[in-house]
Amino acid sequence: KKTPNQMLIIFGASGDLTSRKLIPAIYNLFKGGHLSKNFCVLGVSRSNMTDEEFRTKAILESPFLQKENSKEDPQTMQAFAEQFHYQDLGSDYDHSYDLLANRIASLNEQHGTSGNYIFYLSTPPSLYEVIAKNLSEAGLSKEKDGFRRLIVEKPFGYDLESAKTLNDALHHYFDEKQVYRIDHYLGKETVQNLLVTRFSNSIFEPLWNRRYIHHVEITNAETVGVEKRGGYYDKSGALRDMFQSHLLQIVSLLVMEPPISSDAEEIRDEKVKALKSLRIMKSEEEIVKNTLRGQYVKTEIDGKTVKGYREEEGVNPESTTETYAAIKFFVDNWRWKGVPFYVRTGKAMPTKVTEAVIHFKTPHHEVFMSQDAYRKDNKLIIRIQPDEGILIKFGVKVPGLGFHVEQANMEFYYSDLESAQVMDAYERLLLDAMQGDTTLYARADEVEAAWRFVDPILKCWENNPAVNTYGYSVGTWGPRNSDELIEDSFGWRNPGD
Ligand code: BG6
Repeated sequence: KKTPNQMLIIFGASGDLTSRKLIPAIYNLFKGGHLSKNFCVLGVSRSNMTDEEFRTKAILESPFLQKENSKEDPQTMQAFAEQFHYQDLGSDYDHSYDLLANRIASLNEQHGTSGNYIFYLSTPPSLYEVIAKNLSEAGLSKEKDGFRRLIVEKPFGYDLESAKTLNDALHHYFDEKQVYRIDHYLGKETVQNLLVTRFSNSIFEPLWNRRYIHHVEITNAETVGVEKRGGYYDKSGALRDMFQSHLLQIVSLLVMEPPISSDAEEIRDEKVKALKSLRIMKSEEEIVKNTLRGQYVKTEIDGKTVKGYREEEGVNPESTTETYAAIKFFVDNWRWKGVPFYVRTGKAMPTKVTEAVIHFKTPHHEVFMSQDAYRKDNKLIIRIQPDEGILIKFGVKVPGLGFHVEQANMEFYYSDLESAQVMDAYERLLLDAMQGDTTLYARADEVEAAWRFVDPILKCWENNPAVNTYGYSVGTWGPRNSDELIEDSFGWRNPGD
């Protein structure tokens, strides 16, 4: 189904996200035939550029579209580029909105975009409110003769209070149903598949509760350090950057009750309830016992010295910002009472992987030779990335004498599907926004519920910078002490080990 006629107005058009993610996503949607003929993009930013210069930089000479540029016939690329325009908004994103409104009106005429506009805020978050206010004052936020949508990038707030302030500010100018808060993990095929795995298979759902699940483990690891984003990251840290957003989104999908339909609001209502049922850690004592953080340190690897976090560009040499976080928590509701959840995330780890592991309880009565507990429990491993798929581990008899039990694997890989066209997360999410589907976007109350859980941990960590903070070598699975956080006999599952 093609998207309706519309214009996408990108604030922060000369930024990294636009060239790295948004334009390739738009290009794929264009190539896939998803976009209406009456579509155009207006890039907005603080630099001075002509339409031609913007097209050359963002498309024709973009390193992120290089492959397309060499294989595509130049006319197709040129036709794609001609749908792009540029508007300089001056130095502070606070002026020239009349000019912008006029430009939008004339492009609307030129491209026949039917007065349907999406504003994509790919700017520093400090500008979100200013832009929303100015759009509203320029008469661009009210849906009178077409739709008006606002896509907002993460980080969405810095803590609970700032998230609420931002939500209130945006609600001043836009209705909640016009606001699309992007969390690119929700655009990942395998994250969406969590819902399908749970709610369209009667072999899993009956077991999905405290009676049969022993614990749940989620690992998110990246091999890279903070790269060129030291300045941003040092004010953020793993808890804000990954846990509050992406990982709690995964948690909400694992934990939620079945929605009554696949309607966006029904699904989001259940996610909010799930997030609200996470047990908030109240005392510092509880937080210290159930959380742990780490920072990667300078490491010798094969005779070469690899930088530690504090040596990275833009990072305070005495920074206590965590690049690794591990958290144990409980979900206080009927389904999950007493089941521990263990979630960890880190940079500079041995491999890039995100997976959720559901550990089922071991059989009540042991009939056969016991081995160590870890190898005995049934596990459902949901591989979010890479090698997207699902793995089930179950016991089989070792051939030969006696009844020795060993674990066997049953595996499914997305890449084995014939229709394995996995859309990039941004492509999928943009397409949804263009079609007005909010299912995979975070709602205001959802974001606030996630902050409500994270806030006390942030505060406790800020007040006690040295407590539970450990160094770890680059290329390892984080501080050794993190093993103490997880059940003795189980330990973390380190994929690839
Ligand atoms: C971003 C974080 O939201 O997600 C980055 O800001 C992180 O620090 C990235 O590297 C990870 O995304 P992905 O899709 O590569 O797992």
